[in-house]
This record gives sequence, structure tokens and C-alpha cells, in this order.
Amino acid sequence: MSTPTAPVTATFQAEPLQLFCRQLLTALGASESHAGIVGDSLVAANLRGVDSHGIQMLLVYIQQLRAGGINVPAAGRVVKEDGAFLRYDGENGIGQVVAECCTDHAIRIAQSHGISVVVTNHSNHFGAGAWWGEKLARAGFIAIVTSNACPAVAPWQGQTPILGTNPLCVAVPGLGGRGRWLLDMATTTVALGKLSHAAHLNHAEIPREWGFLDSTGQPTTETAAAQKGAPTPFGRYKGTAFAMLAELLSAGLSGGEMATELPIYRTGGDPLGISHSFIAIDPKRFMPAGEFEHRVDRLVGMVKASAPAPGYDEVLVAGEPEWRCEQLRLQQGIPVPLKLWAKFTAVAAELGVAPPLPDTPR
Ligand SMILES: NC(=O)c1ccc[n+]([C@@H]2O[C@H](COP(=O)([O-])OP(=O)(O)OC[C@H]3O[C@@H](n4cnc5c(N)ncnc54)[C@H](O)[C@@H]3O)[C@@H](O)[C@H]2O)c1
Repeated sequence: MSTPTAPVTATFQAEPLQLFCRQLLTALGASESHAGIVGDSLVAANLRGVDSHGIQMLLVYIQQLRAGGINVPAAGRVVKEDGAFLRYDGENGIGQVVAECCTDHAIRIAQSHGISVVVTNHSNHFGAGAWWGEKLARAGFIAIVTSNACPAVAPWQGQTPILGTNPLCVAVPGLGGRGRWLLDMATTTVALGKLSHAAHLNHAEIPREWGFLDSTGQPTTETAAAQKGAPTPFGRYKGTAFAMLAELLSAGLSGGEMATELPIYRTGGDPLGISHSFIAIDPKRFMPAGEFEHRVDRLVGMVKASAPAPGYDEVLVAGEPEWRCEQLRLQQGIPVPLKLWAKFTAVAAELGVAPPLPDTPR
């Protein structure tokens, strides 16, 4: 008889996790509304299966907040608005709060101009780009969202970390009022946070396709070795190019710090100086309302009509794996690694917050 293996995760419903995040942040001085934006967007990433950018990130933010590295009440300010273009200063506020303000400006401006380009400097880590991309797509716009990040990745053919894992998100409106194609990616082969998630799950090995290097620059599949090493650009030199594109749209246009002008990601008291960009394009300026959404649907249908390659059951399009996961986790709850949860309960005790209880195993 085989011995049952000990569980490595506990399951929580989304709502108690959102409340827990809010309570932790308000205990650190954030307003209810700011704490709500952070909690809702992080838990939304967990629901979508993007655990690299779910509540795991909150522990990092908490370290930064406790070290005085973030201007807790700040929501940023408009530096300059000129037609469709707006430049924002995040004033070292919480990244999600700054991103929410910028996204709202992007929607407002695109509604009158048909397009908007909103850029901000002096922000912090904003989590998963999809939260902002989807908000713009739900408002009817084609969205392009980018951010730079602290240097962690050597450019293709280099070995010194220069660029961040700089995310790129493109979301388009679909039929039914929801995004139909939602690309949300790190410009490294996978997001760095996937490694921390694997470590929290006690996975000693990671897939070779994740493309991590050890501290000597050699490819590795050992989680511990990869944690001392670095991620690589996706698609070789093309990944470096896309990371530079994200860097230029975010920091280049906002006047923010670029590449190694940013500090190595640390959880101390120094501002990170991260920049983001939010671009919204109204398809109704090109064709009658609803036509673009039908065209998106047609294109997705054509792509998915491809006969699956050997070893695969179907062709997926960007966004599909996450929406499927969301349906599942809305019913079955979010699995949180026990190792991560132990860190949360320790922090919660220090802040006088009661953590939620996990679901009872069925
Ligand atoms: N804030 C930051 O500094 C920062 C930095 C890097 C990444 N991130 C975030 O990290 C998250 C994860 O990034 P990642 O690159 O590890 O994601 P990923 O590699 O899991 O997915 C990237 C994209 O590929 C799509 N995809 C996945 N499998 C597919 C398939 N079989 N067929 C078609 N499409 C498929 C997904 O829908 C997604 O849009 C993103 O939310 C990103 O915004 C944030």
C-alpha cells in the first residue's frame, strides 16, 4: 500500500483571500480603496492560475511597505495632458494604485479622442498586466500595457543582468463584453515569480523550457540553482527586443529610470522607480460598433481550426488557459502553497490580522 503524500497546498475561496489582503494592507496604513485594488487584482491573478503574480507578490510589497520603500497614501498626479496623451507621476505610490489611476485616464481620454497613451514614472510593481489590459478591453478598447522592471535579465548574447522581465500585455475586446484574446507575458521565457511559486510548492525541479540559468550562466532545471541564477529572454534576441520595446514605451516616454538605472529588486526603503504605459485604441473609429469584436472572433476561430499537432488535443489562443483556470478556481477555490501560507500567517500575527481558514477538504 502506498503512503499518502502530505498536502503542499491549502485551498481558499477568492473572497476571504481578497479580504485578508485588504486587512494586511490597511494594517500598514493603506486606505480601504487602495487596499481593495491591490487585493482584488492579486487574487484575480490567482484565479486565472497566474500564481507568480497573485498573493505571493503581496509578501514582497509588505516588506517594501514596512521598510518605508513605498509612499503608502500616494495615488500619483497628472504631470501633463495634451489631447490623447497623458504623462503621470506615480509619486512612489503602490504600483496597482498608480496603474488603476492611469487606466482610468486612458479610458476617459480614448472615449473622447479614439486613442490614448498614458505613461507614468515613479511607480512600483503593478502585478499582472492582464488586470489593466482587461479593464481597457472591457471598456471596448484594444489595450497595450507595458511596464519595466528591475534589472534581472542579461540581453541575448550578454551575461550581465541589464533589463527587467518587462511585461507586455495586449488585450482586445470580444463578443459578450469580455476580452477575447488576451496576451499577457513576461519578456523572459517565463515570469521570475514562477520560480518562487515552484519553490513554495517544494518542487526541486523546474521544466527546462522555462529557460533559467544558474549562477555560472549554464542552463539549469534545479529550482535552488535557478534562484541563484537568472531568467533568459524569450525567443532569444527577439525577447531582448520586446523587453526594450516595453522599456521604451514605459520608461522611455515617461522620463523614468531605464534598465540599470533602476535598482536591483530589493525590499528595502529605496524607491524602485518603475514605469508603465497604457495605450487604448477605439476600434469604433475604424468600423461600426461590434464589427471588430466579430472579426476577433473570426480570427480566433480560424486559428483554433488548425488540426492539432501530434501530442496536443487542440490549439489554444492567448488568454484561453487562464479563463479556463478561472472557471475552475471560481468553483473549486485557489490552491495556496502551505510554505507561502506559513509566511503569511507569521506576517498576519505581527500585524494583528486574523488569516482566513482554508476550505475543508472534500
Ligand atoms: N509586473 C511585472 O514586473 C511583471 C514582470 C513580468 C511578468 N509579469 C506578469 O507575469 C505573468 C506571467 O507571465 P508569463 O510570461 O510567465 O506567462 P505565460 O508564459 O504563462 O503565458 C504567456 C501568455 O501565453 C498564453 N499562453 C499560454 N499557453 C498557451 C498556449 N498553449 N497557446 C496559446 N497561448 C498560450 C497565455 O494566455 C499568456 O497570455 C503575466 O501576468 C505578466 O504580466 C509581470
